[in-house]
Amino acid sequence: MLFPRQGGKGAQRLLLFVLLLAAWKAGSGQVHYSVPEEAKHGTFVGRIAQDLGLELAQLVPRLFRVVSKGRGDLLEVNLQNGILFVNSRIDREELCGLNLECSIHLEVIVDRPLQVFHVEVEVKDINDNPPVFRGREQRLFIPESRLVDSRFPIEGAADADIGTNALITYTLSPSDYFSLDVQASDELSKSLSLELRKSLDREETPELRLLLTATDGGKPELEGTVQLLITVLDVNDNAPLFAQAVYRIHLLETTANGTLVTTLNASDADEGVNGEIVFSFGSDVPLNIQKNFKIDSSSGEIRLIGRLDYEETKSYEIHVKAVDKGSPPMSNHCKVLVKVLDVNDNAPQLAVTSLSLPVREDTPLSTVIAFVSVSDRDSGVNGQVTCSLTPHIPFKLVSTFKNYYSLVLDSALDRERVANYELLVTARDGGSPSLSATVSVSVEVADVNDNAPTFAQAEYTVFVKENNPPGCHIFTVSARDADAQENALVSYSLVERRVGERALSSYVSVHAESGKVYALQPLDHEELELLQFQVSARDAGVPPLGSNVTLQVFVLDENDNAPALLPLWSYSQQRRQRVCSGEGPPKTDLMAFSPSLPQVPGSADERQQPSESEHLGKVSLFHRF
Ligand SMILES: *[C@@H]1O[C@H](CO)[C@@H](O)[C@H](O)[C@H]1NC(C)=O
Ligand SMILES: *[C@@H]1O[C@H](CO)[C@@H](O)[C@H](O)[C@H]1NC(C)=O
Ligand SMILES: *[C@@H]1O[C@H](CO)[C@@H](O)[C@H](O)[C@H]1NC(C)=O
Repeated sequence: MLFPRQGGKGAQRLLLFVLLLAAWKAGSGQVHYSVPEEAKHGTFVGRIAQDLGLELAQLVPRLFRVVSKGRGDLLEVNLQNGILFVNSRIDREELCGLNLECSIHLEVIVDRPLQVFHVEVEVKDINDNPPVFRGREQRLFIPESRLVDSRFPIEGAADADIGTNALITYTLSPSDYFSLDVQASDELSKSLSLELRKSLDREETPELRLLLTATDGGKPELEGTVQLLITVLDVNDNAPLFAQAVYRIHLLETTANGTLVTTLNASDADEGVNGEIVFSFGSDVPLNIQKNFKIDSSSGEIRLIGRLDYEETKSYEIHVKAVDKGSPPMSNHCKVLVKVLDVNDNAPQLAVTSLSLPVREDTPLSTVIAFVSVSDRDSGVNGQVTCSLTPHIPFKLVSTFKNYYSLVLDSALDRERVANYELLVTARDGGSPSLSATVSVSVEVADVNDNAPTFAQAEYTVFVKENNPPGCHIFTVSARDADAQENALVSYSLVERRVGERALSSYVSVHAESGKVYALQPLDHEELELLQFQVSARDAGVPPLGSNVTLQVFVLDENDNAPALLPLWSYSQQRRQRVCSGEGPPKTDLMAFSPSLPQVPGSADERQQPSESEHLGKVSLFHRF
């Protein structure tokens, strides 16, 4: 070998040795040089002429020349001084590829005599090639389910240089997930793989980018890099997740059929079908939920499909399941609590019971007439019922207990004034608008014998001509009783007494029912001028009530034309026909006057024929005898 530029004593000795070697080789026609690749134009390679023992002066005359097989342009020789130098860029890799041996063969020819020498110029490798990866990135697809320690082969780099210049070491950018594993089958061929160090999670890290660096052993070292793009493939490892574990919904009981109750929100971290969610009610969903609610399997919308009734069901607890379409599927649950809110949709109900009817008019105050109970299916104020009564008198409602009332007598009854009451009991709830119910109660007042028969006047005066026919009707008494039925059934009787030697009843009698008073025998003015007695009226009540009226019967003298003490008007003359009614044609005048009342002249009525009752009611001034 020839190291022409080396200096120093050792080097000179070495040079000498090399020269000897070259001479020896020249003898056998061989000279050997070396030159690094990529050397500059003009770089010295060797003194061919000297090394081959040719005299410099002889070179030109002997037509010294160098021939290279096909690569003559890489090296050139100075024909005057026989120095070989680099002519153009020598690329070892181009020239020899990966061959470890790389040299350029030259033939040196001189004429006279013709001699051929062989010169070998070894081209030395320099580290002019970095390691090179195929492509700028490598893609890997790794399911997230792969276990730790799994290996994933990757492609290594190639270095066009040789020897240590091509000796590649690899480094991987720091990663929690992967480490680099290099298996060397021989010095230059290594198989690379990524080794999983930590479980992958696509939902957390769907993609990883790592940088793989290859460094060769040259000086200075060169490096090449490649991006490792790792796509983590999804596995159905996430269950659907509801946004809320419990959904609380309030619905009015009047909520319309078809109303959207709520939309459930669930998400699934997986992708594709692994993340597609199907909603459904739980497996054993109660009938009343099936009947009233429906869930859309894809949107998660829950709608009302029935009718709510707070009074029937106050709340629903719906279990909803979300299942993804992965294989195997994963599922999750949530709860929807539907609270039904009361609406005032029920009117109060009203019941009137235990009526003690009819009510006697002498019933004591505070007596209970009936019981009233109210109810309302609604709750809260919607179910709070207040009761009222119209008219307010003479009854009232007394609250005895929640929702129970007594209808009691509040002021005295009087059948003769009001015999029947139509009461309205109204129950009204507290809703808004409020609802009400009304019941009418007819209260009949039962009669009590609290009214005696009464006569229009306390005393009547009657005139009867003497010698009347026996049994002559001389007067009719009439008493009225305000009570009802037998309490008002009046019967008359004579209040017996003695008249001189005889009993009153031998002179007069009273018909018990009609009240007609009869003279039983002809009366005699000379014997009896005035007959005064009482008629009693009694009703049939228990106990009976009664009252008396006084009759003064004047017996008029037949021989007198007119009573001497009647100066004001001659009433009796016009009433001659009215003597004994009911007993044939009238023979005697009958008149009745009330001495206790003030006089009213009856001249206007004189032309008319007053009825008996009018006649009896007629008022005039008359002096008692
Ligand atoms: C449901 O979830 C989506 C996405 O997470 C969000 O945008 C939306 O507001 C949620 N809806 C409800 C009702 O929570
Ligand atoms: C509610 O509406 C649905 C769809 O229109 C109907 O099928 C269902 O009978 C309705 N339910 C009631 C209680 O009206
Ligand atoms: C009616 O007269 C009789 C006899 O004088 C008497 O006993 C009775 O109490 C009287 N009745 C009334 C209601 O005044």
